[in-house]
This record gives sequence, C-alpha cells and structure tokens, in this order.
Amino acid sequence: MKSVGILGFGKYVPEKIMTNADWEKLVDTSDEWITTRTGIKERRYAAEDQGTSDLGVEASKIALKDANIKAEDIDLIILATCTPDYRAQNCSSLIQNKLRAKNAAAFDLEAACSGFIYSLTVGKAMIQSGMYKKVLVIAAESISRIIDMQDRNTGILFGDGAAAAVLGEVEEGYGIISSYLGTEGVTDGTLRIKAGGTRYPITQERFDNREHFIEMNGTDVFKFAVKALPYATKKAAEQGNIDLKNIDMVFPHQANLRIIKSAVKKLGIPYEKVYINLEKYGNTSAASIGIAMSEAIDEGKLKKGDLIALTGFGAGLTYGSLIMKWSK
Ligand code: ACO
Repeated sequence: MKSVGILGFGKYVPEKIMTNADWEKLVDTSDEWITTRTGIKERRYAAEDQGTSDLGVEASKIALKDANIKAEDIDLIILATCTPDYRAQNCSSLIQNKLRAKNAAAFDLEAACSGFIYSLTVGKAMIQSGMYKKVLVIAAESISRIIDMQDRNTGILFGDGAAAAVLGEVEEGYGIISSYLGTEGVTDGTLRIKAGGTRYPITQERFDNREHFIEMNGTDVFKFAVKALPYATKKAAEQGNIDLKNIDMVFPHQANLRIIKSAVKKLGIPYEKVYINLEKYGNTSAASIGIAMSEAIDEGKLKKGDLIALTGFGAGLTYGSLIMKWSK
C-alpha cells in the first residue's frame, strides 16, 4: 500500500469579524454567556460578494503553492461543505473552474462538520487504489448564510472559512495511518435546515416561519459529541495500532470548548496537546479542523514525524477521527 499524506496545506478566513459584542446588539445574549458556554469570542463572516467557492479557492491556491504543484496536476477535487453556492450544481465544480484545474474531476461531500475527515479518508483511498495521484481536499463553509440572526441558540456558534490540503504519495511510513468514520443517523430536527430540500420545499409559510435556517437541539448534539469524539479517536488508534500516549497533537472540531475538554479528558490526552482556536473563528463546520491545522503549521507547531489525531462530529449525525504521521 502506498503511503498517502499531505503535500501542501492552506487556509482562508474572510476579513469581516463578528464579535460577541456585535451579537449582543442583535439578540438577548452576552459576551459572558457565550464565552463561558462555548469559548467563542469572535467569528468571521464572508463578504456579501463571496460564496463558499470563493473561500475554497483562496485556501486551495495557498495549498497548491505549498505543495509546489500546478492546478492542472490535480486529478480530483473533493469539497467538504454543507453550504454550497447553489443547489444541484456541485460547488467543487465552481472551484475547479476558478482554479483552472482542467484535469480534475470534482465532487462535493456532505458530512457537515465531519466533512474534512471524511474527505481526507476518501481521497487517501482513491490514491491508494491507483485511480488518482493528486487529490485536492477542500473544506469550505459560509455558515453565516444559513444561520438565523434572530436565534441566539444557534447563531452565535458559527463562522465562515476554508482549508485545503493537497494529498499525494509521501515517504513510506508517513501520512494517513488510520481513520474511523461513523454515522448515527437521525431523522428528526437534531441538527438540520428543514426547508429548501426535497421533503419541505420552500413555501411562503415555511419562509415566514424561518425554516430555511439551521435548527439544532444543542443539548442532544452536545451529549452525542462528548461520546462520539473519544469513541472515534480510540477506534482510529486501535486500527492504526497506535498508543494514544504517543499522539503529539490533537485537532478537534472547534465547536465548543466544553465538548473538547470533556472529550480529551476521556481519552487521557493532556490538554496541552490539544490545538484550539475556536475563540477566533467559532464553529466553521467542515473547515474548522483544517483551519486549526493550518494555524498550527504557520506557528511552527507541527514537525516532521509528529503523530496527530483529527476528530470531529456534525449534522447527520456524523463523526470520525483520523490519525496521521506528519510528513512535511
Ligand atoms: N445567550 C444567552 N442565553 C442563551 C443563549 C445565548 N446565546 N443561547 C441559549 N441561551 C439560554 C437558553 O435559552 C436557556 O435558557 P432557559 O434555561 O431559560 O431555557 C439557557 O441559556 C441554557 O441553554 P442550554 O441550551 O441548556 O445551554 P447549554 O449549556 O447546553 O449550551 C450550547 C448551549 C452552547 C448550544 C451547547 O448545547 C452546545 O454547544 N451544543 C453543541 C452544539 C454544536 O456543537 N453544534 C454544532 C454541531 S456541528 C454541525 O454539524 C454544524
């Protein structure tokens, strides 16, 4: 089996900053509530003329440069997103066009906040099968477009951003070692946008009821997350024959500080080994783990040979973990 890892990495976050104080002006909330319940201080929102594809393109350009390859060398683009620019047309095709990655097939993968882990896993398998050599995995979201700015329960949690990774063959023994993907499918409104799909097309009534925005049962998602994150990480470690004590850094989905603390405690991983940047960006859904990794790279916190664990959960409900030996 070929060793498959990351050849280049990049991130992009929009310029516009939305602070907790800005949210205080919209709904009955406070910086104190948001900080103690979530750890979030501010988040970024895409500009009016930016769609998810634009965020993905910016992150991808940096990743391609970092990998020192041209867009036409990419065979496949996988975009993890639950906020595509349009319905029916896949958003990865827009990115393929804008990057001029003319030799790449492109598809979107929707697994909400677990999307980056799912996409890296699929990309790795595609390369190991011999079908493709270079796969561009992107996670890009404009969650600000699907939140209800009148709903304090969900609105304050999310932000926009993108991360991109070029996957290819790496030195033997490096790269993605194992991954575990899981789904605990629900059919209720635990976490979804009810209207606008095929079951509930948008009508005036549904629009007036604000059903085209995200709805979430925060407590149920919280309970799920604190079980799913440690479970998936243990499973990925078992599959890779890895002792969790040897993990150098953990990149959890940046949803809520309390969820992260609970999960790593259950894993027995010291908190110092956990990378956290949710105070700056909030929950950027599929993009959050990649944005965290990209910042760790920029800060010189990852060195060749480090064992890192990615772990996430999201709507679906989906969850997963992936362990890799950093190869750059
Ligand atoms: N400001 C002030 N008060 C608030 C706010 C707010 N922004 N939001 C909720 N409250 C109130 C509630 O109305 C409730 O009031 P009540 O007791 O009078 O009814 C009270 O605060 C407590 O609410 P809880 O929901 O019990 O608060 P909790 O401690 O559970 O925190 C939170 C809520 C932060 C949403 C938490 O449940 C959570 O993080 N859940 C996980 C959510 C998540 O990670 N979702 C993303 C998944 S990723 C994806 O796929 C998109």
